[in-house]
Amino acid sequence: MSGLVMAYQFGTNWSGFSEFAGSITGPLLTYEVLTAFFLEAGFLGVMLFGWQRVGDRLHFFATSMVALGTVISAFWILASNSWMHTPQGHEVINGQVVPVDWFAVVFNPSFPYRLAHMVVAAFLSSALFVGASAAWHLLKGQRSPAVKRMFSMSMWMLLFTAPIQAFIGDLHGLNTLEYQPAKIAAMEGHWDNSNGEPTPLILFGLPDMEAETTHYKLEIPYLGSLILQHSLTEQIPALNEFPAEDRPNSPVVFWLSA
Ligand code: HEM
Repeated sequence: MSGLVMAYQFGTNWSGFSEFAGSITGPLLTYEVLTAFFLEAGFLGVMLFGWQRVGDRLHFFATSMVALGTVISAFWILASNSWMHTPQGHEVINGQVVPVDWFAVVFNPSFPYRLAHMVVAAFLSSALFVGASAAWHLLKGQRSPAVKRMFSMSMWMLLFTAPIQAFIGDLHGLNTLEYQPAKIAAMEGHWDNSNGEPTPLILFGLPDMEAETTHYKLEIPYLGSLILQHSLTEQIPALNEFPAEDRPNSPVVFWLSA
């Protein structure tokens, strides 16, 4: 559903960006519509309104097609989103982006990690949602086999997807450190490496772009180095190592990624 709104947002909220890079984001959205949206939209009707109107097998097939369509949608949308993070396969001619290699555009460096992380995030959230609904029924004393199976299925799914997500999240972070080190420094609110000490993880703080520091820091020593370098000594890049005009807005990304 958010995709419907987003198609309009590209034209209204982000029209400047669309004028600059629409030759990439436009076709990627079109591929999504052609390969996924029709599949999802068609079978969604059978899934929602076909209950007790079509047979169980057809209903299950329709539901599976909706799930497949959603994953294919995620593929194209995350290709577009990842290209915004780690762009390649294009040239800028007369102030406009022109695609030159679609394979490179789609399979840009952060795409595999962002796709895997996002799809598993969706599985994880669905498992929690279904599990919470089943738990609510169980609390109300409804212990039918269907509710028990719903709860059991969601718990099994969580058991596998939660650790997998932590593993993929770690790889995703290492990839971001490689391709967008300034963004990592901004996300961590980390300004200065001159003390030579390993990087702490800042749990709370108010990054200040003018004063080039993070105020009121509450930090855990070593943890930043451990998470992002898998080391207890190696520092992560600091924001003051980048020219001021290349520094992402640390207050925004620090709090949004907290
Ligand atoms: C130990 C666990 C996790 C780690 C290390 C981790 C790591 C990361 C990192 C580094 C990013 C930012 C990537 C970037 O902007 O370049 C990110 C983004 C994101 N994470 Fe996680 N994550 C973890 C768990 C989760 C969980 C449990 C969920 C949801 C169920 C989740 C959902 C997301 C989403 C939706 C994004 C934004 C999309 C993106 O930029 O890829 N993450 N995660």
